[in-house]
Amino acid sequence: PQKVLLFCDPGIDDSLAIMYALLNPKIDLIAIVTSYGNIDQNQATQNVAYLLELANRKGVLLISGAKTPLTGEFTPFYPEIHGEQGLGPIKPPSTIKGELLNFDTIFKVIENYKEELVIVDIGRSTSLAIAFNLAGKETMNIVKAYFIMGGAFLTPGNVTPGAEANFYGDPIAAGIVMSSVKNGVLYPLNVTNDAVITPVMIEKIVATKNNPYQALMNDIFQYYFEAYKKLVPGIEGPSLHDVMTLFAVTTPQAFKYVEKVVTIGLAEGNLRGVSMADFRPKPEEEGNKITIAWEFDYQAFADDFIKVMSGPL
Ligand code: BDR
Ligand code: CA
Repeated sequence: PQKVLLFCDPGIDDSLAIMYALLNPKIDLIAIVTSYGNIDQNQATQNVAYLLELANRKGVLLISGAKTPLTGEFTPFYPEIHGEQGLGPIKPPSTIKGELLNFDTIFKVIENYKEELVIVDIGRSTSLAIAFNLAGKETMNIVKAYFIMGGAFLTPGNVTPGAEANFYGDPIAAGIVMSSVKNGVLYPLNVTNDAVITPVMIEKIVATKNNPYQALMNDIFQYYFEAYKKLVPGIEGPSLHDVMTLFAVTTPQAFKYVEKVVTIGLAEGNLRGVSMADFRPKPEEEGNKITIAWEFDYQAFADDFIKVMSGPL
């Protein structure tokens, strides 16, 4: 199985992604870095600790990530989408807090597993940017690859007309990550918006009663779906952006890609956090190339999601 170091901010789609990773025999989740984003960092930690406890997987390292963005100001949380505590209607028991390891555990994990490790970032880019800042590219880029959920190219954003939430939340950090990662693969809204899961699929999953997450899945999913219906009337189901990014780790061949230099808007207002790449037909560009997922095989994603989420731990 592929060893994974996960940066996240759970959050409903992050939580489903964590369940997916733990249930997936093709993924070996080594450590999770919890950061602010969809909710604050303490809540993110409690949510991850709860999900690990349910799976009896306390051996997965829990690492303390960023509490605020590099931009210095507070960014909004989205309780209307992810719930007051990030798990929709579910409240993790107050007895579960989560024992956090220091930030520099990230470097120990990287040093330990080197090119056997894949880093997946499904939250704001802050913690990963800080890791690059502290350790430098040489240390960070010994890993096999980076899988990052963020951005929207020549398509509407989901928090402003042009910006996607992860990059909008900390555009400075997103810019650092986009210019620093080697073997970086990006999953923008262009593909993740179509990672739609329907209530019928969830019904099918929870019916098997094979794993401890199935008891929560329907409530979490329905909450997210209700929020999505208000944003996009008439949709068949919500988009599981973060799950798609983990699916890509095990099934990169389900995607088609383009390679581009990616820059991030740093101005305030509608330019903040906007991701930009040059799609004009022209020769080679200078700079750090990012592999951007551009198309994918929906059926492969949907079938795999149902199979993994219905299976045993
Ligand atoms: C991304 O933003 C977050 O709110 C979601 O969890 C996902 O990572 C989608 O834009
Ligand atoms: Ca997320």
